[in-house]
Amino acid sequence: MAKDEAQAAKRIAQLRQEIKEHDRRYYEEAAPTISDREYDRLYKELVDLEAKFPDLVTPDSPTQRVGGKPLQAFAQIQHRAPMLSLDNTYSEDEVANFYKRITRLLPDEEIPVVIEPKVDGVAVSVMYENGRLKYAATRGDGLVGDDITQNIKTIRSVPQQLRGSAPKVFEVRGEAYLDKNGFKKLNKEREAAGLPLFANPRNAAAGSLKHLDPKIAAQRPLGMVFYGTGAVEGVDVDLHSKIFPLFKKLGLPTHENWWLADSVEKVLDAIRELDRIRHDFPYETDGAVIKVDALAQRERLGFTAKSPRWAIAYKYAAERVETKLLDIIVQVGRTGILTPVAMLEPVVVSGSTVSRATLHNEDEIKRKDIRIGDTVVIEKAGEVIPAVVEVVKSKRPRNAKPFDFLKHIHGKCPVCGGEVRRDPQFVAWRCENLQCPAQATRRLEFFAARGALDIESVGGIVADKLVERGLVREPLDLFELKVEQLGKLNLGTEENPRIFGEKNATKAIQAIERARTFPLSRWLYALAIPDVGKTTATDLARFHQTIEEVASSKLLRDVLAYHETKGDKEATKEIAERLIKSGFAQPSKSKIDKQGGIVTEVGPVVAKSVLDFFGSSAGKKMLQRMKQLGVRPKSEKVSAKKMAELPLAGKTFVLTGTLPSMTREEASAKIEALGGHVSGSVSKKTDYVLAGAEAGSKLEKAKELGVPIIDEPTFRKMV
Ligand code: IVH
Repeated sequence: MAKDEAQAAKRIAQLRQEIKEHDRRYYEEAAPTISDREYDRLYKELVDLEAKFPDLVTPDSPTQRVGGKPLQAFAQIQHRAPMLSLDNTYSEDEVANFYKRITRLLPDEEIPVVIEPKVDGVAVSVMYENGRLKYAATRGDGLVGDDITQNIKTIRSVPQQLRGSAPKVFEVRGEAYLDKNGFKKLNKEREAAGLPLFANPRNAAAGSLKHLDPKIAAQRPLGMVFYGTGAVEGVDVDLHSKIFPLFKKLGLPTHENWWLADSVEKVLDAIRELDRIRHDFPYETDGAVIKVDALAQRERLGFTAKSPRWAIAYKYAAERVETKLLDIIVQVGRTGILTPVAMLEPVVVSGSTVSRATLHNEDEIKRKDIRIGDTVVIEKAGEVIPAVVEVVKSKRPRNAKPFDFLKHIHGKCPVCGGEVRRDPQFVAWRCENLQCPAQATRRLEFFAARGALDIESVGGIVADKLVERGLVREPLDLFELKVEQLGKLNLGTEENPRIFGEKNATKAIQAIERARTFPLSRWLYALAIPDVGKTTATDLARFHQTIEEVASSKLLRDVLAYHETKGDKEATKEIAERLIKSGFAQPSKSKIDKQGGIVTEVGPVVAKSVLDFFGSSAGKKMLQRMKQLGVRPKSEKVSAKKMAELPLAGKTFVLTGTLPSMTREEASAKIEALGGHVSGSVSKKTDYVLAGAEAGSKLEKAKELGVPIIDEPTFRKMV
């Protein structure tokens, strides 16, 4: 491998890891820690590097898939037509290039395009059959999403029944949002109740829709804007611009402002006009979407691997302002990571006052050479967390000194005074003291958070006070709290007390008790084991039945051993075979891996981290304590071994058309229950295509690739 390729491989691996982590925060936790713009920068760097070194592209790269993973707890819905996303751009030049490109692809034709607002919410598909709302789903990974029907039904502007004569099948797609005022109100209420705040309206909307309890969604002022269709039967729409009046006629909320344009200049005019008026919309917008109007032209333009060639999203630049950096404070997170935060002279950006901004880590400060006393440019898009973009060097005070992280904290944890160590993996300093109160609070918050053990009343200030008053030193202490103790908890100050109250306390204790019954995957996540996110926790729970099994996992030890026995070919081979047999590893197809290499379900870093965690005295104590408390989470999944014995194990099915006596959902459920897998598109890897009436392009593709095609009776015999 050439030197620059090796370097690229390293950077690519780094970018993938970072992007995956941000995806997880965004899609699974609805709590991103960087702005969209920063995310797009990382993503673009990866795309560019992969384009330069195509050999380094692997199927698991974030560039090779569409979006987040559906949550496990919701039923899954397979989209009848994939829900794609769009290419993003921040430059008018690229918009012009887009228009020029389509003109080149369709020469000598007029190509009117529609320009409409890009609503900053959550993509949703709603299916109407004979006018009645049948189901609603999130985008999920583009092929399969979460069934959020109950939550969508709580949105008043989404009709249960379409008005007038409705088409037979009418799948509409749009964006669910929380309006700007509703967002402010919601965060105010959460602050008063001591709950963690949402970073922006989109996260609040995502959080509301991803709640399993529809009562929560019902309390939030959610709205909806529909801007497209999915599967449709019984109506013919030939122009996108016709869907706006059609939606209105059917009673579906849609865009009020949109433009038609047939030249680069007119497109750019429309984008600029939208920018002038969008701040008055009730919902957040972060850009404009430009779409070819005629569906016939769209069809001829087609798609790239990920997105349509007939549309592009233009994102408005985030607003930037200058202000003074007064100080840098250092916060301690749940795993002890020290995060520098900029304390700013308050300024108004994008309609709200900003006095803090995240600085991410020491390297970031060095790279941008940020110094206390500097005038800095901060950026904020809509309601997202502001970031420091750059320093205005010409305004730097003479005496400003380069920022020395370690000196700034006097070499100690700013909260507990404990030892700190630089963690090379996270380019961050970390407090080593597991008893650090800041860590205890953050761990407690994390333990109780959505997606972990879901104890909503134990967030923010409640967690702070529980630790401060010595009622909770570690998360498991929650299980010994009594209603009386908790009810008396003072969330205010001595002079200005605010008592938690018995009613809230009873609710909290009920939620705590409920957490006992949660499955292993949730517990593994909630324990805040370094490097174990939701996906990893789910993967681990698939291969282990109990927490003790994870703690002394032979599989994880094998993963470590595989990476450590470098010289000894025989030993490596033996371990690799064992891991493959257990289902915990697969033979690698990537060119980067050595011959005969494997890809394990989790990597050596995670394996080490998990084993270290349970091997430490704190980890052992924790297991002991869980036993004492009678908390014994079990894996909710069939073990890999049992999975492999199921009749359809390892078989991939693709469904197409309408089956005579079962719905797609029923067929999918059957396949999955028997160990098979349902995919949205036909490839060489497909084992069977289950085809019904009016099957379309998937059937053609199957014929082309020689994939066996079966009908419902054959399928029934099989299962
Ligand atoms: S059209 C294949 N129109 O932005 C085209 N999307 O990456 C599908 N969005 O996932 C999208 N406003 O969630 C379209 N007026 C609009 C939109 C819009 C917001 C979202 C949508 C999509 C993403 C684009």
